[in-house]
Amino acid sequence: MYQNKDLILPPNHQQVGTVSWQAPSNIAIIKYWGKRPVQLPKNPSLSLSLTNAHTICSISYQPKQIPSPGISMSFSFEGQPNPQFAERLKKYLESLVDIFPFITRLHLDINSRNSFPHSSGIASSASAMCAIALCLCSMEHRFFDKLKDDKAFRRKASFVARLGSGSAARSVFSTAAIWGKTTAYPECDDRWAVGIEKLLHPSFANAKNRIMIVSEAQKAVSSSKGHALMEQNPFAPTRYSLAKSRLNPLLSALQSGDWKLFGSICEQEALDLHALMMSSTPSFILMLPNTLEIINRIRKFRKATKLHLYFTLDAGPNVHILYPNHQAEKVENFLDQYIVGLCERKQYIQDAVGSGPVQLQ
Ligand code: PMV
Repeated sequence: MYQNKDLILPPNHQQVGTVSWQAPSNIAIIKYWGKRPVQLPKNPSLSLSLTNAHTICSISYQPKQIPSPGISMSFSFEGQPNPQFAERLKKYLESLVDIFPFITRLHLDINSRNSFPHSSGIASSASAMCAIALCLCSMEHRFFDKLKDDKAFRRKASFVARLGSGSAARSVFSTAAIWGKTTAYPECDDRWAVGIEKLLHPSFANAKNRIMIVSEAQKAVSSSKGHALMEQNPFAPTRYSLAKSRLNPLLSALQSGDWKLFGSICEQEALDLHALMMSSTPSFILMLPNTLEIINRIRKFRKATKLHLYFTLDAGPNVHILYPNHQAEKVENFLDQYIVGLCERKQYIQDAVGSGPVQLQ
């Protein structure tokens, strides 16, 4: 798919330039947890795209000084070398040579920076890989006048982002996206995500999300290890069919503005994700005592006030709290008073469902 041996840079083409994209992080409501080769999901997932948590990536390119068959690149993260991510990036670019043969003719200087503190424990691979994929697709467009149509451009960017990090496939779209085949939305595909912005009720299209930083530490178990452990997890088949069965009701909640139904699926998914971690062999626990304390306080406050605020979790201890914009004042007063104190150095990221990636000049 998307392999094209003709996309080799013409010798007389303008071979010096820069492309830049800002791409958002996303928070999965139905989680992707478990995969099959090559980076294809075992179940469909659905996420909301964020605004303030994003990555800005720039790729400056020039002809290689000495022709060589491989990838020639440098990488800096927030202005500093980052050998660990540089290594991952190089392997990723090597895997893309059949899709973008022109990258073997160029030297690439890649700069990436996140809007959120890199020690915040927030997974950045979705926004980082999405921003890189968008840059590569823009280069293809610039060199070969391809991918002119926005739908084709986004589909290819999502396909390419997926190969870097599964969840990155969903960050290509504004507000919400589904990645993975589902009868609930026939257009969906395992190879790329599909934007469902048109479907969203306005109260979800501008929903708010506060990310409570329970711990700034790096994840103890990477998501690739977590996905791999699903292969032997005794609950895996049940998990995949449950996730599939939740797509239909979630879509109808998102369409009709039914926050109660949305919230029950959202919280169930978060707890199921962590239950799967606990039932893997070896098992692991990423929640911390304050994660549970936050969950309990949210549920208690919700019961007492009947306000709509619901939690979800990524593969880590930090808690995402989702609520409608029209209830923001009351919810945020509660969060400021009773939840922020449970966060490491009282840190949180105030975010909202957002309008998707932006190409920068
Ligand atoms: O894209 P990965 O391999 O980092 O996996 C993401 C896994 C979760 O964040 C836990 C769930 C999801 O769908 O984003």
